[in-house]
Amino acid sequence: MTNNIKKGKFLTFEGIDGAGKSTHIAYVAELLRQHGKQVISSREPGGTALGEKLRELLLQEKMHLETEALLMFAVRREHIAQVIEPALERGDWVISDRFSDASFAYQGGGRKLALDKLNALEQWVHPDLQPDMTLLFDVPLEVARARLDATRELDKFEQEKTDFFAGTRAEYLRRAAEFPERFRIIDSTRPIPEIRAHLDTLIAQLCADADPL
Ligand code: TMP
Repeated sequence: MTNNIKKGKFLTFEGIDGAGKSTHIAYVAELLRQHGKQVISSREPGGTALGEKLRELLLQEKMHLETEALLMFAVRREHIAQVIEPALERGDWVISDRFSDASFAYQGGGRKLALDKLNALEQWVHPDLQPDMTLLFDVPLEVARARLDATRELDKFEQEKTDFFAGTRAEYLRRAAEFPERFRIIDSTRPIPEIRAHLDTLIAQLCADADPL
């Protein structure tokens, strides 16, 4: 399926752990519903029954960095086949809490897996599908760290050191510069009402582009 024959729109949320993206997903889903859209909200790794089982392993077990990348894309293949493509074909809008940009940022920027391997996996798993809009919630590392330290038990990724997140954030920002047509950077240090106002504008614009008068 290519982006030009699908009927719904595909939105992804990205950012390093502690960037605060999760707070805003329900808000955006509700905004879209107010714009009259049917919305499916999902996440990666996960999104399907099999994907949620693999998520447990991915977030807890240590493994070779290539195993980790392959599993992330295996989860994604299932997610696309079972959830994303059928929803887009129905004309629903899909929000995914993370997608392939996270593999480039975490396995590439964080773990230093060669980007050509990630590009090959992306070409295999979704050669014709890209998000219509990717919201990148960006914060300095120390802000993200403070938020993580103030929260619950940390998973395998959240326990990573500053160097890992420096690489992750840098790769997210590099991709945002490479694909400016779909990335929107949200300054996640701003107060929630200000971020919501920014989201209101972005979503109104996307809906207007989707349904021109
Ligand atoms: P979450 O905490 O946003 O639910 O994401 C789960 C973790 O999985 C997060 O630390 C980022 C990581 N991750 C990757 O390393 N590669 C990927 O491709 C995806 C989707 C997530």
